[in-house]
Amino acid sequence: MAMKKIIALFILSLFFMNVKALAADGSQLIRISTNETDLILNVGQNGRLYQKYFGVKLINESDLNQFKDVRRGGPGMPPMGVNSGEVYQTSGAEDYYESALAITHVDGNMTTYLKYVSSDVKNQDNNVTETIITLKDDVYPVTVKIHYITYAKENIFKTWTEISHSEKGAILMSRYASSMLYLDNASYYLTQFDGNWAKEVGMHTQKLEFGKKVLDTKLGSRAAMMLQPFFELGVNAPANEQQGEVLLGTIGWTGNFRFTFEVDDAGVLRISSGINPYASIYDLQPGELFNTPEFIFTLSQSGTGQASRNFHNWARNYQLKDGKGSRMTLLNNWENTGFNFNEEILSGLMKETKELGVDMFLLDDGWFGNKYPRKDDHAGLGDWEVTHSKLPNGVPYLVKAAKDAGVKFGIWIEPEMVNPKSELFEKHPDWVIHQPNRETYYFRNQLVLDLSNPKVQDHVFGVLDNIMTENPNLAFFKWDCNSPITNIYSPYLKTKQNELYVKYVRGLYNVFNRVKAKYPNLPIMLCSGGGARCDYEALKYFTEFWASDDTDPIERLFIQWGFSQFFPAKAICAHVTDWNKTTSIKFRTDVAMLCKLGFDMSLKNLTPDEMTYCKTAVANYKRLENITLDGDMYRLVSPYEGNHTATMYVGDNKNKAVLYAFDIHPRFQEKMMPVKLQGLDPTKNYKIEEINQMPRSKGDRPMMPPMMPGNEGPKIYSGDYLMKVGLNVFSTMQTTSHMYEITAE
Ligand code: DGJ
Repeated sequence: MAMKKIIALFILSLFFMNVKALAADGSQLIRISTNETDLILNVGQNGRLYQKYFGVKLINESDLNQFKDVRRGGPGMPPMGVNSGEVYQTSGAEDYYESALAITHVDGNMTTYLKYVSSDVKNQDNNVTETIITLKDDVYPVTVKIHYITYAKENIFKTWTEISHSEKGAILMSRYASSMLYLDNASYYLTQFDGNWAKEVGMHTQKLEFGKKVLDTKLGSRAAMMLQPFFELGVNAPANEQQGEVLLGTIGWTGNFRFTFEVDDAGVLRISSGINPYASIYDLQPGELFNTPEFIFTLSQSGTGQASRNFHNWARNYQLKDGKGSRMTLLNNWENTGFNFNEEILSGLMKETKELGVDMFLLDDGWFGNKYPRKDDHAGLGDWEVTHSKLPNGVPYLVKAAKDAGVKFGIWIEPEMVNPKSELFEKHPDWVIHQPNRETYYFRNQLVLDLSNPKVQDHVFGVLDNIMTENPNLAFFKWDCNSPITNIYSPYLKTKQNELYVKYVRGLYNVFNRVKAKYPNLPIMLCSGGGARCDYEALKYFTEFWASDDTDPIERLFIQWGFSQFFPAKAICAHVTDWNKTTSIKFRTDVAMLCKLGFDMSLKNLTPDEMTYCKTAVANYKRLENITLDGDMYRLVSPYEGNHTATMYVGDNKNKAVLYAFDIHPRFQEKMMPVKLQGLDPTKNYKIEEINQMPRSKGDRPMMPPMMPGNEGPKIYSGDYLMKVGLNVFSTMQTTSHMYEITAE
């Protein structure tokens, strides 16, 4: 008897090691925090899990007890704050708004009630903590584990769920969000990032009122072509760069995603984030584990500027492939030659690459296909053998030619896709997503390979692997994806077509994983007909992404502004091209220097002065790379707000910064305000020097006394002055730009 008691006590103590003690009233608080933010959950008396508070971090541990009250706030009652929502709201319970999870059980019952079972906290290190909360339905054997990972210093939260069951057959999941988050405020303003090819990430803001606003995509592979998988939510006012509470959220899923924002009758906003369940009712088998993608978010009390820096720091420290490493500058040939090149032309470009001073030559589309040579975008896609008539000595010759020129060599692939005019399609029509019994329609004359099929995954992995095996010194890949999934039908999945969108993305991750495992140090650019793929799950496997085919520098100022809300400069590829040649080479290059710099143009058309400028710019870029790519970004003046824009980057110890100022379309005699810098040390003195000037303009640029650093040479200002009074860095000249190097004395 005594022995039994001891064993029971031992089991009980094991349970409490993982679960914080339940309070006398049966409730339990779970606090999930970063250094800045608290997310407080409470198990209600009904055993279900509720969000009680999401906001700025509380100082007093004892105040947490206030959140045990399950009643709503009212006169004389403690305010409930952001409150009253079930953390993973299920369908069929007594809630009449959007649910996170909707299951039809084997017996046809469509209700699920999840009750708290346990929670477990693991400190991965001083900064990273994982909390896992297990919930179970007490009538049906369905388990949901909610995971939270917090990054204390970066103020970033990640959350996702694991769904499983042991019913007697498959359960049907018609909704399976990654998370649900509640805000309880007077008003909410949503900023979305929409667009299309060559007009990515347009920022548009609207006030949310009662009802739902859904942001979703159904494109499958080129998933973010019209909408990016991230949003900003201004609390009580539209999101502002420097002040106010703002939530930034993004889903790590390289496929169809959905965010639903629903304001209920009490004015509470719930945000559910996850895979878009469109055409994707999932049959979950007993024992199968369904992992939803990560929803990643930060809550800033000082506007979007701080929120973006949270994301940038976290991405570099934890998420982006080689987040801390440097990046290669490059010369690409796509805008220059298109499909028209041969060995001689490419060898010439490699020499130009060297002359310019960038690290690598990147060969784009058009190097493969023999039965159907890839001379335009109608044929050859899928046949990853070099076109012998065009490049008789193959890729090894090009790698060697680059080496001889003193630069690295990178190559473009689009391995998930196929032209119907290809040997691959002729050999394996069953590897291609297309309708067996309907007319086929084409997006860019191509179709998408069926990555739900493991054999196709092997093939796609093999595309990169074969090139690397033949050319172990190849230094870089650009991985493109130009088509959405069209003609939706998988020959592999047969009667399970409902799982294609999800299984496509899982298949893609299998391939990405294999590539990363075999080539952990290989830099790869993620591209999708411009910037239609850049979510943070894909970026675990990619060092950078192509933001847009639109390289008109004016448009780029907006596009890069948009992507910079979530991604650090080192992840965003920006190339100097001939788009909008009415602007100077300096303007175009200064814009590209805000991100990861590359060139994609014929250098032969540049004047000697322009070439000298470009070489100097590359040298400056490399010299200051650690500030731009690894420093803190401060967006000082938005292009959305007027005729000018300015951005600065500040290095780690605040000893070095760079400032970029652009006049887009200033008005005649318009009033211009000085730009107040940010992120400097007020107690330090800084030398300000304009760099990156065109040789001809050196020394004769019109100055605006008294604050603008002038042609009399560098000037010294205190950090305090620069941040309170600012600098006159704008002019009334159309499309001009200035770059300043700021150095602590
Ligand atoms: C779309 C990309 O965005 C371009 O940069 C280029 O690589 C083309 N595809 C090639 O087909």
